[in-house]
Amino acid sequence: MIVDEERYELNGREVVLRCPRPEDADMLIEYLKLVTGETRFLFCESDEVEYTTESELEFLKEHNEAEDALLLLAFVDGEHAGNCSFNSKGGASRRAKHRAEVGIALRQRFTGLGLGRLMMESLMKHVEAAGYEQAELVVVESNDRAYHLYETLGFKECGRIPNGNKYDDGTYLDDIFMIKKF
Ligand SMILES: CC(C)(COP(=O)(O)OP(=O)(O)OC[C@H]1O[C@@H](n2cnc3c(N)ncnc32)[C@H](O)[C@@H]1OP(=O)(O)O)[C@@H](O)C(=O)NCCC(=O)NCCS
Repeated sequence: MIVDEERYELNGREVVLRCPRPEDADMLIEYLKLVTGETRFLFCESDEVEYTTESELEFLKEHNEAEDALLLLAFVDGEHAGNCSFNSKGGASRRAKHRAEVGIALRQRFTGLGLGRLMMESLMKHVEAAGYEQAELVVVESNDRAYHLYETLGFKECGRIPNGNKYDDGTYLDDIFMIKKF
């Protein structure tokens, strides 16, 4: 879906949240390669990001055209800082259409400024307005900043996959499932 651009002020800096445009595609591939390398807490390793301009354009189009999904880009003083999104867990089944999967990732240098909270608050508003009954996410064990953020937004831990992540150095971290009901 496409929502109206939102503007905020955060500690004297201008924050713009908006939906993606086709000209964002290559920048977003570079962003994904960067953020997956900056943290152990995202879904894959940096060298596993293999999107092409065409596949990214398709991904952006799908989000903008879907009635049950949203991708929001955040810009701080005109610089891209990160993304957040939601998608239906429904797929082909009606039974899970009340469930939204949400996600967020900021470039490292834009973390710790309060931007994640601002973005998640906006995202939750859109998830609820889209008619979802609950929002769900997965956070990796020891991502304390994310866990705290989600908990204070009303998410509750509801389960874990022990050793859900195995890293190249042979260490493991659990996946923690969290859910927020509207
Ligand atoms: C997780 C992420 C979205 C949080 O956004 P952010 O802008 O950095 O976080 P904020 O500045 O809004 O701070 C969130 C809260 O965490 C708190 N916090 C910061 N560091 C913390 C820590 N080590 N332990 C616990 N809480 C912490 C902050 O004080 C703030 O809480 P408050 O508003 O109650 O004071 C962002 O850091 C990020 O994208 N990280 C990399 C990718 C990632 O981990 N994505 C999430 C995957 S589940």
